[in-house]
Amino acid sequence: MNKRLQRLDKKYIWHPFTQMQDWLREEPLIVREGKSSYIFDTAGKKYLDGVSSLWVNVHGHRKKIIDKALRDQLKLIAHSTFLGLTHKPAIELAEELIKIVPSGLAKVFYSDNGSTSVEIALKMSLQYWLHKGRHKKTKFIYFENSYHGDTIGSVSVGGIDLFHRLYRPLLFKSYRLSFSYARLKSVIIKHHRNIAALVIEPLIQGAAGMRLAPHGFLREIRSLCLRYQILLITDEVATGFGRTGKMFACEHEGVSPDIMCVGKGITGGYLPLAATLTTNRVYSAFLGKYKDKKTFFHGHSYTANPLACAAALANLKIFKKEKTLVELQPKIDQLRRGLEGFYKLKSVGEVRQLGFMVGIELVKDKRINAAYLQDDKIGIEVVKEARRRGAILRPLGNVIVLMPPLSISSVDLRKLLKITYQSIAAATNNS
Ligand SMILES: Cc1ncc(COP(=O)(O)O)c(C=O)c1O
Repeated sequence: MNKRLQRLDKKYIWHPFTQMQDWLREEPLIVREGKSSYIFDTAGKKYLDGVSSLWVNVHGHRKKIIDKALRDQLKLIAHSTFLGLTHKPAIELAEELIKIVPSGLAKVFYSDNGSTSVEIALKMSLQYWLHKGRHKKTKFIYFENSYHGDTIGSVSVGGIDLFHRLYRPLLFKSYRLSFSYARLKSVIIKHHRNIAALVIEPLIQGAAGMRLAPHGFLREIRSLCLRYQILLITDEVATGFGRTGKMFACEHEGVSPDIMCVGKGITGGYLPLAATLTTNRVYSAFLGKYKDKKTFFHGHSYTANPLACAAALANLKIFKKEKTLVELQPKIDQLRRGLEGFYKLKSVGEVRQLGFMVGIELVKDKRINAAYLQDDKIGIEVVKEARRRGAILRPLGNVIVLMPPLSISSVDLRKLLKITYQSIAAATNNS
């Protein structure tokens, strides 16, 4: 059965972010089931889910409360349109979300993936200024190394050359800046009349390899944006729902944005759902007579899918019931202490951590400042070693990411650290 599925996969499927020529040479792992922090393949081998199934899983796989919420919802309806109709799971979820997001955010616009939630934020901010009569405010500020998704709008505000440069002919121009406050301020002073919004991954750039922003940077940005009438969009698609140790990363610096994007962990990692939240101020600018054409012209077939909303509601219930964020704090410390040992390896450069988001940078030999090249594919080699040892990891170039489910037990966390350490040592010929 395994062989048959592998053959059919190779015959019919094109995988995301994957060099298919390599894929065709390898034996793909075929996932069969999941339980808590583990994934099982069709041959029955079990693996720790070290990256929460691409940063989405929160309370573990096959969580009873979420499973039940889905079964209950299935008895009612799996999907109905959100264009011109509404439903209970989406309404109740919106109410719950508004209770937990930074103050000031008051409206929820649903979609179905993180890229789209950013796309919506960009369109929303541009249209907001149009309704305010500020027709020149059409540009955006974004940051080097930022990642906001793979659709054309979100790629336009993406700063990772490997992923984004190729598509330049399709992209709109924006202001791309580094994390330099002085430079940011001077661009804003000079160009604010043309700038609709600034978009940022708060505190930590995930896909760039878990790069941390300078302490207090987000707070400084907030006040600049307020002073110069630029909307602040925080993309919490990766950081949201506890991943940084607080429910949302903005909370670390007491910042409340004008627009906030969430996705990934919103359903506990069960189903595709995202949301773009905003303030009453932004929302009211879209109110008017039908003929005024102030409607926000955006929506998807699966916007606010009832099953996904039911899963998200259950996800939030678990946060309360199991005190997920309280339980997480000692595990964040355990992770930090465990990572300290990694510096013993000469192939480990910087280790970056914010809560349960970790990036371990691999270098050839830090004693002589020798770096790996992207083409060395060292991250991929480490992942292969980890798989042999029973953990699923996914690298970002030469950075090994650790982002286990928030519910991982302390014992499994220790195991994950051990496997990661051994895999790095083995792949880099280190000890
Ligand atoms: C910060 C951030 N924004 C947006 C996205 C895109 O989300 P999706 O893959 O659901 O489109 C990601 C995905 O990794 C992300 O990390």
